Amino acid sequence: MTHFLDLHVTPAADLRAIIDDAMRMKQARNGHPKGRPDAEQPLQDHIVALIFEKPSTRTRVSFDVGVRQMGGQTMVLSGADMQLGHGETIADTARVLSRYVDLIMIRTFEEATLLEMAEYATVPVINGLTNRTHPCQIMADIMTFEEHRGPIKGRKVVWSGDGNNVFASFAHAAKQFDFELVFTGPAPLDPEPALSGLYTIERDPARAVQGADLVVTDTWVSMHDPASARERRHNQLRGYQVNDALMAQANPDALFMHCLPAHRDDEVTSSVMDGPHSVIFDEAENRLHAQKAIMRYCLQG
Ligand code: CP
Ligand code: NVA
Repeated sequence: MTHFLDLHVTPAADLRAIIDDAMRMKQARNGHPKGRPDAEQPLQDHIVALIFEKPSTRTRVSFDVGVRQMGGQTMVLSGADMQLGHGETIADTARVLSRYVDLIMIRTFEEATLLEMAEYATVPVINGLTNRTHPCQIMADIMTFEEHRGPIKGRKVVWSGDGNNVFASFAHAAKQFDFELVFTGPAPLDPEPALSGLYTIERDPARAVQGADLVVTDTWVSMHDPASARERRHNQLRGYQVNDALMAQANPDALFMHCLPAHRDDEVTSSVMDGPHSVIFDEAENRLHAQKAIMRYCLQG
C-alpha cells in the first residue's frame, strides 16, 4: 500500500519522480479546457473520497478537478456529517470506506486520525493537511520554485512567521530535496522540537532573508489554533510581516510564496502578494498538477 502521509516518510527519489511527473502532466495539458480529460486516464473506473474535517478551497477543488481530469469520480465528504464525527472509530471508518472507494484523501485535525486511517484502510490514504503537516502543499511549492528558478537543491528558503504545519512540511522537504531552510519568528512560536536539525533559526527577519532565493509565510492563526490566541499572536508576529522592505533584503530574484488563504496586510502586504516576487497563484495552480502526480503515485507506484 502506497500512502502519501508525510514528506519525511516518502523516499526522496519518489518525491523527485512525483515532481517530474507533475511537470509533465502540466505541460501535457497546456492550453486545454479545464474540463477536458487528460490523454492518459489513470483514475478511470476509480472513485476517490475527499474527507474534510476543516474548511478548504484549494485542496477541495484541486483534488476534485484532478480526479476528474484523470478519469475518476469523487465524493466530497464533511467529517461532521459522517459517523466519524459521532463516535464510530477511525479504524472502522477506514475499513468500510475501503470497500467503496479506491483512494482516500483526508484533511483532519489530529495527525493520529490520519495515521489510524492509513493503518486500517486497504486503499491508499493521502494527507490533505493535519494540525502538524501539509505535504501536498509543499510538493506544489517545490514544483513552483523549480518551474521558475530551476533545481531547489542548494538554494536558501526563509520562512517568516509561525512555526506551523506548513513550515513542518517545508522542514521535511529541506532534507528530502536538499535545500537550506531558515526559520525567523518569535521563540514562543518556534516549530515543534521534533523538527530540529532540519532548519536553522535567525530571530532577526532582515538578517534571515539575506541571500534568500525564496521567502515564505502563512497565516498567523491556523485553523486548529484557538480564536482567543489571535490578538497575542498578532502582537508576537507583527515584526515578521513580509513587506517590501523585507523582500528588498532578499536576493533580487527571490520568489515569494504563501499557501493561501492569506490575510492581506497581516502576515504579508498586498504589495508583496501582487508584486514582482510573488508566484502565489502559480503555487495555487500547481496544487492541481502535484496532487494528480501524487494520486498516480499512490495507485501505480
Ligand atoms: N492552501 C490550502 O490548503 O488551501 P485550502 O485550505 O483552501 O485548501
Ligand atoms: N496553517 C494553515 C494552512 C491553511 C492551508 C492552517 O492550518 O490553517
